Amino acid sequence: MAGVTNLPYREFMKPFGVGLTVSEMISDCGICYNNENTLRYLATSKEEGPVALQLFGSKIESSVKAIGIMEERAAYDILDINFGCPVNKVTKTGAGSAWLARPEEMEEYVKAIVSASHKPVTAKIRLGIDDKSINVFPVSKMLESAGVSAISVHCRTKEQGYSGKPDYEAIRGLQSELSIPLFVSGDIFDLNAIKKVEKICKPAGYMVARGGVGNPYLVTQINAYLEEGKELPNPSLEEQVAYARTYMNKMIDYYGEATGVILMRTVLPSFFHDFPHVKSIRIAMMSAYHKEELEQIFEGALDRIA
Ligand SMILES: Cc1cc2nc3c(=O)[nH]c(=O)nc-3n(C[C@H](O)[C@H](O)[C@H](O)COP(=O)(O)O)c2cc1C
Repeated sequence: MAGVTNLPYREFMKPFGVGLTVSEMISDCGICYNNENTLRYLATSKEEGPVALQLFGSKIESSVKAIGIMEERAAYDILDINFGCPVNKVTKTGAGSAWLARPEEMEEYVKAIVSASHKPVTAKIRLGIDDKSINVFPVSKMLESAGVSAISVHCRTKEQGYSGKPDYEAIRGLQSELSIPLFVSGDIFDLNAIKKVEKICKPAGYMVARGGVGNPYLVTQINAYLEEGKELPNPSLEEQVAYARTYMNKMIDYYGEATGVILMRTVLPSFFHDFPHVKSIRIAMMSAYHKEELEQIFEGALDRIA
């Protein structure tokens, strides 16, 4: 997730049982132009592995060149290609989910990526451009035959963006038509979502996105449910504060206090979702600059539930 799944976030999430971490989407042009900010996204660590770096692009030449640079400069296990981003800035260049409108070109692109990459290549897609052009079945099969090693599907269309409900029915039977693993994405917010999908299709796994932000224990709950049929209770509010503190410290250790506090502003309030007066907690966090201020907000939140 762009703006969220930086290295410290991924390292923080890992002990909760994450099977594979994935970087924020990385621009192939940014890599080719040696853009300093883009190159920072290539940072990974042993602690978080296995890790996929996710690339987006719209031209074979530039993506292949970027892969060469990635293989020289970055340590990673899987190359994931983004065919799901609906954001205009990305799709207007033909990248992200815009590819779903031109599957023939997409096939040529994927074949070139697979042959350029020395790492396994996976793909992230959506159901299609809109509800009148759902093509998740043919696109998935095309990706498999082009050499992709796993597919994850965000069960919304490009047009839906992040709103409306994901349509899990649209992938009924898809895993059994593929010989590569299928991962399901879209509103994986609690065990109810898992139960719903499991009734429709049995994918190889799930991608936790927004649901895990501020609720890392969701990953532990999902694993316990899928592996042992157990339904673990939600963490206490005190545990949520402990998670927030661990995340805060990781961000500050990695980015330093000034940058870390600003970067975590959008994520940190999510840990306090179930606290009384969460709005005032959020407002206080959004204007914090120092670890000390955040510590005070944590203590204040704990006082409220004492
Ligand atoms: C802020 C934000 C940033 C995202 N960035 C990416 C990204 O860089 N690459 C990607 O494949 N998906 C990205 N996504 C999509 C998520 O991975 C996921 O597929 C989508 O949010 C649906 O899952 P959810 O409803 O459980 O959040 C992003 C989503 C959000 C909300």
